[in-house]
Amino acid sequence: MSNFSVIDSFNQGYFNSKDIDLFYQRVSGEHTHCGIFEHSDEDLHIAKKRTTEYMASLLKIDSNSHLLDLGSGYGGAARYLAEKYGCQVSCLNLSEEQNGINIERNQEQKLSHLINVYQGSFENLPFPDSTFNAAWAQDSFYYSDTQLQAFRKAYRVLIKGGEFLACTYFFSGDRPSEADVNKVMNWYTGGIHKVYFLHTDDYRKVAKEIGMSEVEIIELTDNISLNYLQLLQKMEKIQAEEQVWSQEFFNKKRQRLLDCYEMGKSGLIQWGILHYRKEN
Ligand SMILES: C[S@@+](CC[C@H](N)C(=O)[O-])C[C@H]1O[C@@H](n2cnc3c(N)ncnc32)[C@H](O)[C@@H]1O
Repeated sequence: MSNFSVIDSFNQGYFNSKDIDLFYQRVSGEHTHCGIFEHSDEDLHIAKKRTTEYMASLLKIDSNSHLLDLGSGYGGAARYLAEKYGCQVSCLNLSEEQNGINIERNQEQKLSHLINVYQGSFENLPFPDSTFNAAWAQDSFYYSDTQLQAFRKAYRVLIKGGEFLACTYFFSGDRPSEADVNKVMNWYTGGIHKVYFLHTDDYRKVAKEIGMSEVEIIELTDNISLNYLQLLQKMEKIQAEEQVWSQEFFNKKRQRLLDCYEMGKSGLIQWGILHYRKEN
């Protein structure tokens, strides 16, 4: 995939790797974004699915709608949307491994007629202008150093009145110091892959330029630590019983989950949903 940026190629290798795939398959499930928990010991999968249900509830969707999922992972959200609303969903995702599983599951669940899966980067959208009623990105945009460019491109493919939603990590209020930004990003990645957390004002600035109005920013930060604590406990249990991962991978990933738990508690970063609407 020679037309991918260096960052995209680096992250693609990460998402295609067997260990990470096993982590998602065994621990995280097909909704690989942060969950929204009703209480602290709620089942992880219920909380993760709730994020998708909640985001969908913010949109007006019916069987005539066409939605774009940017960085669609294993397609958990696409199947939820297609099954519940009978709408069309186009999935665009970097990882071929994940796309293969997405396609297989759509076939198994007889949803292939509603869901198309495209291999690629959301920095280049292979769709005509004004195609989609809504575009969303669930914990995926921050893997790109040019996510604001991707936001502009999402605008292009939305119809007038179309909506953009992203659940993501973000800074808000006073601008964080460079040291705090680096600290948070290092907690998240440990250098294994790359992420870029932005300030809400960065999105606001671009939204204003391109003609997107801000519907709301929903702050759900408390869920970060609950999410990572549950991922950690689940991975430890599976590893203790079955030794699924090499000790080296397990140690590294365990540290990442602990660090993400710290990140959630730190007050330095927030997680939630950005919601914009194309005005013209
Ligand atoms: C944490 S996963 C989230 C997957 C899915 N949205 C979900 O919530 O289950 C991040 C996803 O972003 C995708 N991704 C990262 N950078 C991307 C890019 N530049 N273009 C398209 N997909 C990308 C990865 O392939 C991965 O599936």
